[in-house]
Amino acid sequence: MVKKINTCIFISGNGSNLKFIIKNSREYNFPINVKLIISNNKFAYGLKYAKKYNIPYKYYTSNNLPRFERNCLIEIKKKNIKLLCLAGFMKVLTKNFLNNFKYKIINIHPSLLPKFKGLNTHKRVLMRKETYSGCTVHYVNSKLDSGNIIMKKKVFVKPTDTINTLKNRVLKEEHKLYSKAIISMFR
Ligand code: GRF
Repeated sequence: MVKKINTCIFISGNGSNLKFIIKNSREYNFPINVKLIISNNKFAYGLKYAKKYNIPYKYYTSNNLPRFERNCLIEIKKKNIKLLCLAGFMKVLTKNFLNNFKYKIINIHPSLLPKFKGLNTHKRVLMRKETYSGCTVHYVNSKLDSGNIIMKKKVFVKPTDTINTLKNRVLKEEHKLYSKAIISMFR
């Protein structure tokens, strides 16, 4: 049995990436264990998975970001968390948080970084008539979507794509890529 890394996942919404990470983490040889889920949105659909899989979860408002981060750090310490995964978490963590959490933080972004950082990725990809897009798992630093890249997956854009069809096709790849990237970090 591998010694699993205690992991916390931050979400804000649907939590479909969270769901796949939880499912994969139940495999005996997957390197992490999801020990804590934190949402900054009380109504995040993803919290459903915390309940379903019996994983401790917390909601803290992020209206006051420093306070949110303080609350998170307390809980993260209690649970001996050694990896933080952002999965559809819609806030940029402050430098103070990054300095205080001594372990790795990773994120998934629905584009081929460094292209199309930030919001409305798929809309911008379509407007720019890109022939392909994709998704990226990367380390988090204090600049938005800018940390070192761990892994990327290319997804071709179809001429008939709408924001939704492209988003769904990229999301399917995200679900596989996030776990692959986590495995690669501990190989
Ligand atoms: C994903 O596209 C992710 O890349 C982006 O937000 C979306 C979250 O989806 N950061 P979900 O909440 O995991 O379903």
